[in-house]
Amino acid sequence: MKILLTGGTGYIGSHTAVELINLGYEVELLDNLFNSKITVLDKIEEITGVKPVFHKVDLLDRAGLDKVMAEGHYDLVIHFAGMKAVGESVEKPLKYYENNIGGTINLLNSMKKYDVSKIIFSSSATVYGDQGVEEVKEDMQTGIGITNPYGRTKFMIEEILKDVSVANPEFQIVILRYFNPVGAHESGLLGEDPNDIPNNLMPIIMKVSTGELDKLKVYGDDYDTVDGTGMRDYIHVVDLARGHVAAMMKMEEGVSIYNLGTGEATSVLQMVAAFEKASGKKLPYEIVGRRAGDLGKIYANVEKAWRELDFKTELTIEDAMNDTINYLEHVE
Ligand code: WQD
Repeated sequence: MKILLTGGTGYIGSHTAVELINLGYEVELLDNLFNSKITVLDKIEEITGVKPVFHKVDLLDRAGLDKVMAEGHYDLVIHFAGMKAVGESVEKPLKYYENNIGGTINLLNSMKKYDVSKIIFSSSATVYGDQGVEEVKEDMQTGIGITNPYGRTKFMIEEILKDVSVANPEFQIVILRYFNPVGAHESGLLGEDPNDIPNNLMPIIMKVSTGELDKLKVYGDDYDTVDGTGMRDYIHVVDLARGHVAAMMKMEEGVSIYNLGTGEATSVLQMVAAFEKASGKKLPYEIVGRRAGDLGKIYANVEKAWRELDFKTELTIEDAMNDTINYLEHVE
C-alpha cells in the first residue's frame, strides 16, 4: 500500500510516518514546511533506515498538488496538514479558513481527479465545543460552542467529508479526533518542534525548561477539578501514530469517526509535577487568570476505538515526560 501524508514533516505526521515505514508501507510526505523542518526527513531515515520521498507543496497550490497526486498512484491519504494555533486563528480567521478548508477542498478534488478514494483526517476534540460534559463520545453533537476559528475549521472539514461521502459512496473516510498530543519518539530524534510560537502546554513547558521562557503561566486554578487547574486527555504521540495504523486497517466505505485519547484526564499542575519528577528540577510557574475559551475538564470516551479498531493507548504521562526530556537533550 502506498500512502501520502500531508503535513508529513510535522509533529504527528512524522511520528506516523515512522510507524508506517517500520511496518513496511511505502510512505511519501507532502508539506509546505510552514510549521516544520526538512531535517525531519533525516531523522526519519536515522530511525527507520528509509528516507521518505518528500514533496514541498502547499495544498493551496492545486497544480503542484495535482502533479504529486497524478504521479503518486496512492492508495490512501492521511491528511495532517493544517494550521493549528488556536490564538492565532482568532486574530487571522481568513488565513485559517483559506489554509485549512481551502487546502482540504483542493486535496479532495485532486484525490477524486486521480481516483484516490481513501482518506484519514486529523481532526480534534475541539469539535465537541463546550457542551457542559467532561467525557465526550463520538455520537455527541459537534460544532456547538466552539470558541475559535481553528476549531471551527476542523468541524467544517468533518462536515465537508460527510457530504463528500454522500456524493461519493465509494470513498472510505476516517475522522480521528485527537485529544492532547504530547511526548516524543523514544530515540529522541523526533518531537514537538514548532516553528511558530506555541500556545500548547507541553511546548511551553519545554521552552521554560530550556530557559527560553522564564516561567509557565497556569491559566486559572478555580476550575471544578482535582486541583483547580484545567484537565485534559494527554495522549502520547507514538500511541496517536499507532491509532492511525489501527484505523487504516479497518477502513470501509462511508465515514467512521473515532476519539484518539487515553480516557484519562490530567491537570496542569499534575503535568508540571510529572515533568519535574522526570527532569529532576523545579519548573517555575505562576497562577494567572483563565484563558478565554478554555474548558475546565475534557477527556475521551475511548470505547469505540477499542471495540472497533482494537486500539488502546499503552504509553503513560511519565513515558511522555521522559521521552520529551530525552528529545530536548538530543535537539541541537
Ligand atoms: C492544555 C491545558 C490550558 C498553556 C488545544 C486545541 C486542540 C489541540 C490541542 C492542536 C489547558 C493549560 C496551556 C499554558 C496553561 N490543538 N495551559 N498554560 O487548549 O486543551 O487544546 O490544543 O493540536 O484542538 O483546542 O491545549 O495545550 O493549549 O492547553 O495553563 O501556557 O493547559 O489552560 O487547561 P487545549 P493546550
